[in-house]
Amino acid sequence: MAKVTYLINGKKIIIDVPVGSSLAQFGIDNGLEIEHACGFNCRCTTCFTKINKGADLLSVKMEHESEKLEMKGMHGNERLSCQCVVERNGEIEAEFESWHQQEDEDKGDSVFI
Ligand code: FES
Repeated sequence: MAKVTYLINGKKIIIDVPVGSSLAQFGIDNGLEIEHACGFNCRCTTCFTKINKGADLLSVKMEHESEKLEMKGMHGNERLSCQCVVERNGEIEAEFESWHQQEDEDKGDSVFI
């Protein structure tokens, strides 16, 4: 098990996630609101997360995930949480931000320019 801290829109939820589980799927199965428009198929990027801690405990980025992240200009510790499978025990912190919230903030910014 990995102790995963999910930071979702500022809320902190800690869940023990078994080795072999994806961060997105296991989080959703445990009641977390993680967007997943393509159904965990690495097509939409709505499950985007920043891995603040424990990236080395997760599966490595495959080419299709890297391509999606590159298209969005995401580098470094960003991942698609549906593609992040826990491979080892330890502590992980994954930060999520709702795309709807981001869209609302973007709209708000454009109003005040
Ligand atoms: S759910 Fe669509 S890319 Fe992860």
